[in-house]
Amino acid sequence: ALVSMRELLDHAAVNGYGIPAFNVNNLEQVQAVMEAAKEVGAPVILQASAGARKYAGEAFIKHLIAAAIETYPQIPLVMHQDHGQSPDVCQGAMNLGFSSVMMDGSLEADGKTIASYDYNVDVTRKVVDMAHKLGVTVEGELGCLGSLETMQGDKEDGHGTDSVMTMDQLLTDPEQAADFVKRTQLDALAIAIGTSHGAYKFTRKPTGDILAIERIKEINRRLPNTHLVMHGSSSVPQDLLAIINQYGGQMKETYGVPVEEIQKAIQFGVRKINIDTDIRLAMTAAARKFLAENPDKFDAREWLKPARAAAQALCKQRYIEFGCEGQA
Ligand code: G3H
Ligand code: 13P
Ligand code: NA
Ligand code: ZN
Repeated sequence: ALVSMRELLDHAAVNGYGIPAFNVNNLEQVQAVMEAAKEVGAPVILQASAGARKYAGEAFIKHLIAAAIETYPQIPLVMHQDHGQSPDVCQGAMNLGFSSVMMDGSLEADGKTIASYDYNVDVTRKVVDMAHKLGVTVEGELGCLGSLETMQGDKEDGHGTDSVMTMDQLLTDPEQAADFVKRTQLDALAIAIGTSHGAYKFTRKPTGDILAIERIKEINRRLPNTHLVMHGSSSVPQDLLAIINQYGGQMKETYGVPVEEIQKAIQFGVRKINIDTDIRLAMTAAARKFLAENPDKFDAREWLKPARAAAQALCKQRYIEFGCEGQA
């Protein structure tokens, strides 16, 4: 059944676990997340980016999720708009029936220019006003995702800014977070602590100087009624990179957010953990391997099946690691 994100995150907070929010763009990804959740009894957050809505088309995204609800009526499910770039985009998602929206006002509507604090407060407040009337949950973002190694925003996947940033911009300020929540009344807050989108987050396994997990404690202490969200939280498993490169891929050395760091973050109060890249890596590794080993096959279902199974295994693993087992 479709539920609000507020409801799921409140339950996660009371019971001390975190919920992975998986990005979905197509049939196989929706099926993979739902089957994984069914296997372990986990609640589900399916999120669609603007790119996903464009790739699949509005009606397909809406009805793929409707099909998930119909097929798995017992699983509580949130349909979330990821990185809405303006109140208009969020309004469009609500018109489509989304039960949760992200207003990402950390950047201006061009998705590149670093926004002023007042701009962020203003657009986020606007979306909260529209959404709460409908029982829709709102996620906002304070601070810009980007690398503390290079001091660059995360432009890799076309999001974010490529300007050089300051420490102040790359790390969410706990004091400002408290003011932001007070002024916007939002439900969930995405924070910047050194993670970035995509596969190329860190040039080495991250330590405290480039991944500021401890800061979550300070932010959370001041936000009793708001749930924290971590973006850019793929772990970029080394074994998946190895399979991709073994079967013709050319990915460079790179590191993601280690699962044990996410587990610490959950202890410190993070309730929603955004994952897209790990699903991409899992599906690509499985598809490359299958096609390399079966050069005579040409039925798309034959290579989509192992790709879907690999995504499902990845999702199941994260559900268990984040404490979702039996929580639905
Ligand atoms: O926000 C980042 C997510 O990974 C979505 O990526 O815009 O390529 O769909 P996308
Ligand atoms: P990853 O690229 O680390 O999977 O992050 C996804 C994300 O934050 C979507 O909003
Ligand atoms: Na951002
Ligand atoms: Zn994100």
